[in-house]
Amino acid sequence: MEKRELLYEGKAKKLYTTDDPGLLISEFKDDLTAFNGLKKASEAGKGALNNKISTELFKLLEQNGVPTHFVRMLDENHMLHRRVDIILIEVIVRNIATGSLSKNLGIPDGTVLPFTLVEFDYKNDALGDPKLNDQHCLILNLVNSFEELDTLRAMARQVNDILRPFFHEKGLNLVDFKLEFGKDAQGNIILADEISPDNCRFWDLQTGEKMDKDRFRQGMGGLKVAYEEVLNRILGDNGTI
Ligand code: C5P
Repeated sequence: MEKRELLYEGKAKKLYTTDDPGLLISEFKDDLTAFNGLKKASEAGKGALNNKISTELFKLLEQNGVPTHFVRMLDENHMLHRRVDIILIEVIVRNIATGSLSKNLGIPDGTVLPFTLVEFDYKNDALGDPKLNDQHCLILNLVNSFEELDTLRAMARQVNDILRPFFHEKGLNLVDFKLEFGKDAQGNIILADEISPDNCRFWDLQTGEKMDKDRFRQGMGGLKVAYEEVLNRILGDNGTI
């Protein structure tokens, strides 16, 4: 399967058509951005790590009954996946308060939440990805019904219920993460985008060390080593890539 036309270039990936209209190729870039694109850098090898991590996590989720766009990893930086219409809602799942939740609501950083929080942000760079409530989502025509929002929440919780214990066993605390969903040709909602340390927060269970893009956001360095460690923990003893 080969890349044809560049359809779209995002901050972390380029999206290409293929000779099959139902399939697209994502190229994972080494670019890093934070604070809605205000902070930029590049880290050689970051794209390949995110491709491998996403591949493993999509496989795990598929095995556990979550429909995703994933088809297969093509090479270091390329993933083949189904074509979907992306729903312009960033679904944020939080187990522990940190980041914008702590900043906006004054919940102390590191507070374990009494239950898993699912939030919706508008995927709109020009507006700075503002928070959405259910009515905003309908008024903006981001989904067709309140039931679709319930589906997004249920699928996000299902992903958390699979990934949180998986990472716990690997010595990582899954603090929070962002998911994107799309609709396939039949209108089914499936998980899309990527799942990587660019859009998840992982804290080492023993040391509390940050193993994700917060290292870049907070200028801590050591990003690639942390991403490699996340991949190695995922693969464990039976490295499949
Ligand atoms: O910044 P905030 O605390 O709201 O981020 C919550 C989670 O969502 C983090 O894991 C972050 O990496 C992810 N996120 C993202 N893309 C965004 C906003 C948040 O991947 N545009």
